[in-house]
Amino acid sequence: MLSLFFLCLCLKSHICFGADTITANQSLSGDQTIVSAGGKFELGFFEAGNTANYYIGMWYYKKLVPDQTIVWVANRVQPVSDRFSSELRISDGNLVLFNESKTPIWATNVSSSSASFIHVVLLDNGNLALRAGSLPLWQSFDQPAHTFLPESKLGFNNVTKRTQLLTSWKNSEDPAPGPFSLELDATSNSFIIKWNRSQQYWTTGFWDQSRHRFSLLSEMLMPNHIFNFRYVTNENESYFTYSLYGANITSRLIMDVSGQVKQLSWLHTGGWKLLWIQPKNHCDVYGLCGAFSRCSEKPLPLCNCLNGYEPKSKVDWDLQDYSLGCSRKTRLQCGNVTGVDGMSDRFIEMSSRLSSEDIQIQNLTYVHSIEDCESICLNDCNCTAYGYSSSSSECSTWKGDMWADENGRTLYIRTAASDYKNPTSNVMLIGRKRTIVIATVSATAGLLTIVFGHFLWKNTLGKRSETIKNLSAAGVENDTELPLYSLRSILVATNNFSEANKLGEGGFGPVYKGILPENQEVAIKRLSKKSGQGQQEFMNELKLIAKLQHTNLVRLLGCCIEAEEMILVYEYMPNRSLDKFLFDPSEKTKLDWGRRFRIIEGIAQGLLYIHKYSRLRIIHRDLKASNILLDGTMNPKISDFGMAKIFDINQTEANTNRVVGTYGYMSPEYARYGHFSEKSDVFSFGVLLLEIVSGKKNAVFYRSERSLTLAGWAWDLWNEGRGIEVIDASIREIFQAHEALRCIHVGLLCVQESAADRPTMASVIHMLQGNEATSLPPTKEPAFSTQKNFSAIGSSQRSTNYSNNALTISLPEAR
Ligand SMILES: *[C@@H]1O[C@H](CO)[C@@H](O)[C@H](O)[C@H]1NC(C)=O
Ligand SMILES: *[C@@H]1O[C@H](CO)[C@@H](O)[C@H](O)[C@H]1NC(C)=O
Ligand SMILES: *[C@@H]1O[C@H](CO)[C@@H](O)[C@H](O)[C@H]1NC(C)=O
Ligand SMILES: *[C@@H]1O[C@H](CO)[C@@H](O)[C@H](O)[C@H]1NC(C)=O
Ligand SMILES: *[C@@H]1O[C@H](CO)[C@@H](O)[C@H](O)[C@H]1NC(C)=O
Ligand SMILES: *[C@@H]1O[C@H](CO)[C@@H](O)[C@H](O)[C@H]1NC(C)=O
Ligand SMILES: *[C@@H]1O[C@H](CO)[C@@H](O)[C@H](O)[C@H]1NC(C)=O
Ligand SMILES: *[C@@H]1O[C@H](CO)[C@@H](O)[C@H](O)[C@H]1NC(C)=O
Ligand SMILES: *[C@@H]1O[C@H](CO)[C@@H](O)[C@H](O)[C@H]1NC(C)=O
Ligand SMILES: *[C@@H]1O[C@H](CO)[C@@H](O)[C@H](O)[C@H]1NC(C)=O
Repeated sequence: MLSLFFLCLCLKSHICFGADTITANQSLSGDQTIVSAGGKFELGFFEAGNTANYYIGMWYYKKLVPDQTIVWVANRVQPVSDRFSSELRISDGNLVLFNESKTPIWATNVSSSSASFIHVVLLDNGNLALRAGSLPLWQSFDQPAHTFLPESKLGFNNVTKRTQLLTSWKNSEDPAPGPFSLELDATSNSFIIKWNRSQQYWTTGFWDQSRHRFSLLSEMLMPNHIFNFRYVTNENESYFTYSLYGANITSRLIMDVSGQVKQLSWLHTGGWKLLWIQPKNHCDVYGLCGAFSRCSEKPLPLCNCLNGYEPKSKVDWDLQDYSLGCSRKTRLQCGNVTGVDGMSDRFIEMSSRLSSEDIQIQNLTYVHSIEDCESICLNDCNCTAYGYSSSSSECSTWKGDMWADENGRTLYIRTAASDYKNPTSNVMLIGRKRTIVIATVSATAGLLTIVFGHFLWKNTLGKRSETIKNLSAAGVENDTELPLYSLRSILVATNNFSEANKLGEGGFGPVYKGILPENQEVAIKRLSKKSGQGQQEFMNELKLIAKLQHTNLVRLLGCCIEAEEMILVYEYMPNRSLDKFLFDPSEKTKLDWGRRFRIIEGIAQGLLYIHKYSRLRIIHRDLKASNILLDGTMNPKISDFGMAKIFDINQTEANTNRVVGTYGYMSPEYARYGHFSEKSDVFSFGVLLLEIVSGKKNAVFYRSERSLTLAGWAWDLWNEGRGIEVIDASIREIFQAHEALRCIHVGLLCVQESAADRPTMASVIHMLQGNEATSLPPTKEPAFSTQKNFSAIGSSQRSTNYSNNALTISLPEAR
């Protein structure tokens, strides 16, 4: 009724109901809106929360998305309170918002010489375009708020020097720019999230043109029918953009108030579905908990003040707004030893992401011991924290607020003696899952002590020797010692991580060849710096592999944790990885049948060891050709334990809500339900075995007509009595037919749909070594060999974006 009335009143100076354009003599105010021609987006005044603050904004047209979802805001910092006496109109060739007192509070700010037929039109892709006739003058796509819409660009224009970046809202009811921003780092061709426009805490990794993805953004690996990603970089501009394959899909990417990037899609059944989120952990968001506070995912609350500190604003804190952080409960004695209890200030240990480049650094001196460093800080009344590096003798002191971060360097925070609890209560449990173990550095011995318990202990006394004492008092056992390399020696060994030394790029960072003194050749894996990713995997790998000793497992020689670097040092494998031979037509002939069979046996022995005979029971979870390294004599060694999981001795299976692994090698129960066991490794082994015998990549079958998987193809031939045709043509001249056929048979047994049908590694070895007389059980149809059971994991063999199956993926956590 009302809208009909409004339609009749469509005056010349006002917007017509349903129009998509504002022309020179029209204005928009009150409840008036414009709607894009195809009914996708709507623009007008909106109220943020229940604040009575009004903003000019854009949202999805309500027939498409009934819950008003703001995608763009014009006057982010200056709202109006009376939208009926405020107006948006064209003035002096610009789109201008006038407030109640007719003062311009927001404008497009373009200078145009041509003033003919200036108008603004709302397009169906969510772009608001100011034009003079058909000449573009300005567009909202160039000034995004917190939403990155399909078809818009996010990046840097080298001609206009303009940058598009997303900034979070201040809070859910205030669209003013908040502390978090997503922007392009043109020098590294990556997107990064920064706090306060300065502190980077997350990155997508560089754009890898050949794989068509950002190197650290695992979400982009999922085969999908939804997004078509594109990254363009040339001398004029660098930007990232994406489009949607389906015309009726509604999807958006936002820089959320939580400091996380989210991709959301509107469900036809109603509601926004979260497709992915990064960083996954709240605590990986810098600055979330404010100063002198510590973040932990569990138990709630997310943020807790350090001992001796209390929330600056209890009200905000209780509303879960932690950004103001904490302040000291008791004034520092500041050298006044005649003070409260005759004690000087003490220090509590905290991890901080602060690096020496940070502005808060007050003084950097070189002293011989941590005690000397501590007394420098004590003697300076303004010093709030110090950090000490024993390898470089650097003593850094800071003033002002300190920001905690689990993955950062260790700092000692000043606190009043009266707030300093007795040391045992200050022993701190760290680590998110209470299963990982802290590595304590023993400075004098140059050794890293890895403690395998169920808890993480850290001392708070600032004296490293006491850490060890506390640990033994806590009854932690099974220490393993591992050489600790200094960063300096790693830099020398790799020639400053030179490109020439680079061996390749693993899931969590590049791998370099290094030469240690005494000419020992090593492989050095450098975990991506500042990525906030992979640290958990780092600890996992350290903890696991340091304990494993087997001729078919790659050996960890040591590590380096210094500054912001996390580095692993492995024995060097001159023949690199199996895939380099197997899938390269010019190299594969080097792998004759005898070598292939020995490689299969070696991998099987290595797996049996981690499943059964090591002191821990380990599921590798990411077995694939590129993770099998070959030594000088082509002896295979399993590597990359970053994804591995330890089982209790009595545990046989487990679930994870974080599915990691590589498509094509993942067992159906793992890919579908995150359910893993030794049998999921057996499945991957079966795929790998068939690859070794056939010389064919499992991945290429996703696009082939005959069969969807390598196993399906081999099974078809096998059933037709043509098993010999499965064998790599390049070795078909000379091979042991019975051995090769036996391998195919075992491979097919390993990739069966039901985990219960698959053999254990012990029986795999038994079957591989069996003589001709040993009969093997018949095999059932492999998993994923038909369209029906393959599509059940929600992916497709026909994806155009899914170009590289040999990479490790990590699916978002189910929520
Ligand atoms: C806008 O108003 C001006 C002066 O009032 C008039 O000259 C002009 O023709 C009008 N333009 C349109 C498109 O109605
Ligand atoms: C309109 O904006 C101007 C400039 O910011 C401001 O001084 C004035 O108070 C605003 N008017 C109202 C009614 O808020
Ligand atoms: C327009 O310019 C003014 C003054 O330079 C500035 O405050 C305002 O943010 C600019 N508006 C836009 C949309 O860039
Ligand atoms: C945030 O950035 C501003 C400007 O770069 C700086 O002055 C301020 O100190 C920063 N805030 C904190 C808490 O670091
Ligand atoms: C940007 O343009 C300048 C010249 O205007 C050029 O020197 C520079 O290389 C360009 N930057 C990139 C990243 O292409
Ligand atoms: C960059 O801009 C110049 C001038 O507009 C144009 O001639 C050139 O083709 C552009 N380069 C690319 C790669 O688009
Ligand atoms: C829109 O999407 C739904 C669900 O994916 C589909 O069933 C429907 O056919 C699509 N409609 C059009 C017009 O593409
Ligand atoms: C030291 O502490 C005592 C007791 O709190 C106080 O009376 C005295 O003024 C303090 N001295 C200084 C220099 O702060
Ligand atoms: C840094 O600390 C040293 C040792 O306490 C002191 O001698 C020096 O004056 C300090 N420098 C500054 C700039 O505070
Ligand atoms: C501590 O800071 C205050 C205020 O910034 C300054 O006046 C004073 O000189 C500083 N004291 C020292 C020892 O640096």
